[in-house]
Amino acid sequence: MTRKQHFFAFSLVLLFLLHCTNTVVAQPAAAPAPGPPGPTNVTKVLEKAGQFTLFIRLLKATSVADQIDHQLNDTNNGMTLFAPTDNAFSSLSSGTLNSLNDQEKVALIQFHVIPTYVSLSQFQTVSNPLRTNAGDSSRFEYPLNVTTFGNSVNISSGITNTSVSGTVYTDGQLAVYQVDKVLLPWDLFGAKPPAPAPAPEKPKKKKADAVADGPDGKADDSSAMSLMTNIKNAVVFAHAIAAVIFLL
Ligand SMILES: *[C@@H]1O[C@H](CO)[C@@H](O)[C@H](O)[C@H]1NC(C)=O
Ligand SMILES: *[C@@H]1O[C@H](CO)[C@@H](O)[C@H](O)[C@H]1NC(C)=O
Ligand SMILES: *[C@@H]1O[C@H](CO)[C@@H](O)[C@H](O)[C@H]1NC(C)=O
Ligand SMILES: *[C@@H]1O[C@H](CO)[C@@H](O)[C@H](O)[C@H]1NC(C)=O
Ligand SMILES: *[C@@H]1O[C@H](CO)[C@@H](O)[C@H](O)[C@H]1NC(C)=O
Repeated sequence: MTRKQHFFAFSLVLLFLLHCTNTVVAQPAAAPAPGPPGPTNVTKVLEKAGQFTLFIRLLKATSVADQIDHQLNDTNNGMTLFAPTDNAFSSLSSGTLNSLNDQEKVALIQFHVIPTYVSLSQFQTVSNPLRTNAGDSSRFEYPLNVTTFGNSVNISSGITNTSVSGTVYTDGQLAVYQVDKVLLPWDLFGAKPPAPAPAPEKPKKKKADAVADGPDGKADDSSAMSLMTNIKNAVVFAHAIAAVIFLL
């Protein structure tokens, strides 16, 4: 080794030692440090991700967005969201959302919210059913089950089976996972027949519903609904596919 190489090697060792000392010193200091200032804005997270337009509208229309913001700020348990994509909403049977009253819409959206932070690996050890924000959580109304298989996380509501298809956001307090289906709770869709075998459309009734949504002053809600109407063609197509799959 030349003198230069010696010096270089020595410098590396020194750097390494310095680094070790640094981390040893730094770690105890970092532990009590608080997280990011203020709660994370869920709406912003979803907006940034794109493809969650309808979910965002429904979060706002039902005021569940505010509820999440408050819960994130007021508790240390964190939160977990299963965020259905726009495609997930557009592949719902038409009239699925319109069949719900305002209170039930709130429950449907709250069903996608778990009042604790669950990392992907924690899904392997959580016990079923999971509590959701919907209904009376102490009585485990609106339960949701998860099963893991390797790295994949399957979700079952008793009506909807799907799996986590991506992590949108995670920071140790808030986790947002993408799902490709709207999670339909058993409590809203299990007892009633419409979900499994959608009845033929009744256009007159739909119009009445749309008008009824108006006076509530929920602009977001009704525009979400009109968007739903816009994608009706896609839904019809999805129905056709579903029918074909059923026949196979
Ligand atoms: C969150 O962000 C949205 C826009 O991205 C904004 O309209 C809303 O007021 C924000 N909420 C809070 C609590 O800051
Ligand atoms: C968060 O909670 C604290 C009290 O715990 C309150 O002072 C503050 O206004 C809250 N911030 C938001 C954005 O809700
Ligand atoms: C998860 O769901 C997929 C289909 O979406 C299925 O093939 C797989 O067996 C399921 N795994 C578990 C553990 O339920
Ligand atoms: C969820 O899990 C619980 C406990 O294992 C079980 O009793 C219940 O039937 C499950 N429900 C669904 C929809 O899988
Ligand atoms: C959904 O998954 C559960 C297991 O978690 C299974 O028992 C049930 O048959 C599945 N339902 C459908 C419709 O695939």
